[in-house]
Amino acid sequence: MSDLLQLEDFTQQQGDMHRPTPVERESVDYRALAKNVGQIGEGKKYHIKTYGCQMNEHDTEIMAGMLEEMGYKSTPNHEEADFILFNTCAVRENAEDKVFGEIGRLKPLKNRNPELILGLCGCMAQEKVVQELVAKTYPWVDIVFGTHNLHQLPELMDRARNSQETIFEVWEKAGDVVENLPKLRKEGIRAWVNIQYGCNKFCTYCIVPYTRGRERSRLLEDVVAEVKELAAQGYKEITLLGQNVNDYGIDLKAYDFADLLAACNEVEGIERIRFTTSNPWNFTDKLIQTIARCEKVVEHIHLPVQSGDNTILRRMNRGYTREFYLDLVKRIRAAMPNVSLTTDIIVGFPGETEEQFLNTLSLVEEVRFDGAYTFIYSPRAGTPATRFKEQVPEAEQKNRLQRLIDLQNEISREINDLMKNQILEVLVEGESKTNSEVLQGRTPTNKIVLFQGARDLVGKVVQVVITEPQTWLLKGKLVSETKEVAV
Ligand code: SAH
Ligand code: SF4
Ligand code: F3S
Repeated sequence: MSDLLQLEDFTQQQGDMHRPTPVERESVDYRALAKNVGQIGEGKKYHIKTYGCQMNEHDTEIMAGMLEEMGYKSTPNHEEADFILFNTCAVRENAEDKVFGEIGRLKPLKNRNPELILGLCGCMAQEKVVQELVAKTYPWVDIVFGTHNLHQLPELMDRARNSQETIFEVWEKAGDVVENLPKLRKEGIRAWVNIQYGCNKFCTYCIVPYTRGRERSRLLEDVVAEVKELAAQGYKEITLLGQNVNDYGIDLKAYDFADLLAACNEVEGIERIRFTTSNPWNFTDKLIQTIARCEKVVEHIHLPVQSGDNTILRRMNRGYTREFYLDLVKRIRAAMPNVSLTTDIIVGFPGETEEQFLNTLSLVEEVRFDGAYTFIYSPRAGTPATRFKEQVPEAEQKNRLQRLIDLQNEISREINDLMKNQILEVLVEGESKTNSEVLQGRTPTNKIVLFQGARDLVGKVVQVVITEPQTWLLKGKLVSETKEVAV
């Protein structure tokens, strides 16, 4: 019996035990919304510039899909594009500054070619201050639309052709989940799949709950149908996307993230299932056991900790303590001794003392993460942390960041050094970006491996012996071409 069937039985039984009634929800069908758009992009080109997280990257694939259905073709050269779109990120200030710099530099191009349509979408578009700034300082932007309005792109393009003024279409709140959106995925091996939108956590430094709205899960059957379609198209690896994937299903009250993983694990043709991002909160033992049990679900967990100090964690509103986090890591490692753990860390949060920062360093030493994304705290308008006193001076923030990076690099290198002479399973993704004679792939634990091999290995799982570990990647030699071969 498939896990999906077991899942139905499970919800039935749980229903008998007065479980909350599953939410009856219908999704909106994009095809019904977009049927009148036609080929307004015939003979025209588009260029999308994407910032931010994988969710934004995937949104770009969806918008590219819609544009191609309208007849547009992609161009890598923005100078020859008829539509230039900035899909933006608001999580830190420097990304925002870059976008405005680029929009400023496009003014002469827009003057030369008034037919050119300029668009700004993504998380920045949700911010009132950004909308006001565009209206006042960058009026040559033609359309501004938010993260909840993605599916309206065809209609907005149509309106932009006939309008002299900037069109603002930013819903403050999310509407229904829209299904059947076209997607132009980049490569043929790995694919992103949205499972959940938004975030309910309101960490005091973070803008995401304001830009992406509340948590909404896609229906399990819609996600599984998409994964099956991807398998049929030849994709080997999927990454399930959400801000807090382990909260998946809470709003639907019928199943949870572990059930979704188990159902995806049944899809034939898919070799690997990744997911990101997990929040330490609500990472249940059922989920740990499911990841350990499902052979396609990789043993790599991105588990942002943000800080190793309890006072800072409380002021960040993270909802867990250092001790809770360390215990969770212990439970995960007990079930999966070879698990790879990566994390996100913020330094220089308002009021962070040297002692509190040292608690972060000691947590990093204790956990020994495989890798960490490290950030200097960036104040975001409208978030509670901007009102906290005692902002840490920039020089001190930079100093802490460097010490953290040095420590993490040392640990990453030590962990990778242990891989020397080990034979690892690698899903081959393509040629290396810098050398076409070298193939690039990844281990289940998400480590990049480079090795010499024939191009027809792309899409296959091969065995590679590691000869030269480095801090960020592993170099190796092909041992065998299929994973079944004993080594
Ligand atoms: N939902 C994910 C994080 C998404 S944002 C989670 O909770 O784990 C990605 C990362 O950006 C966060 O983990 C955090 O480390 C960082 N980040 C978010 N807001 C920030 C800010 N104001 N300043 C600096 N870094 C920030
Ligand atoms: Fe931001 Fe916190 Fe939500 Fe992550 S969990 S997106 S850090 S508010
Ligand atoms: Fe940035 Fe929005 Fe993602 S703020 S990190 S693009 S959810």
